Amino acid sequence: MTPMKHIVLAASFAVTLATTAQAAAPVAKPDKIVVCAACHGENGVSTQPIYPNLAGQQETYIEHVLHAYKGGVERKNPIMGAQAATLSDADIKQLAKWFAQQAPVVYTPDLETPEGKK
Ligand code: HEC
Repeated sequence: MTPMKHIVLAASFAVTLATTAQAAAPVAKPDKIVVCAACHGENGVSTQPIYPNLAGQQETYIEHVLHAYKGGVERKNPIMGAQAATLSDADIKQLAKWFAQQAPVVYTPDLETPEGKK
């Protein structure tokens, strides 16, 4: 192998490493998380069955739906509308990134309940 090829290979390896490190970088806990945590749990695993789990949800979807609640037209909900109204665009981005990076819980329907017998 020529020295030039070594340099090119080393450079592309360094780029790969940098990209991988970036993807795995932990996200800082958002400032507003304390508010959401009351219902959705700090790690996106909800505290009550009536609140949706957010752990592992698509980042783009969370961002989209928070804007939809905030707008109050596409998605109307008295609880989440009020929550989203207090969030800035930066808050929304931070929260979406945070919840998307949390480990999702597996939902296993109970076959004995009416819901499972559908
Ligand atoms: C008082 C309880 C409560 C608090 C606090 C709360 N939420 Fe929610 N959240 C809900 C409920 C209830 C829903 C379902 C609303 C509906 O039917 O659209 C929901 C839905 C959502 C959804 C949509 C989930 C989906 O699958 O479509 C997202 C995203 C979300 N909340 C994010 C947040 C964030 C971020 C915060 C903090 C700023 C927050 N929530 C605070 C109760 C809460």
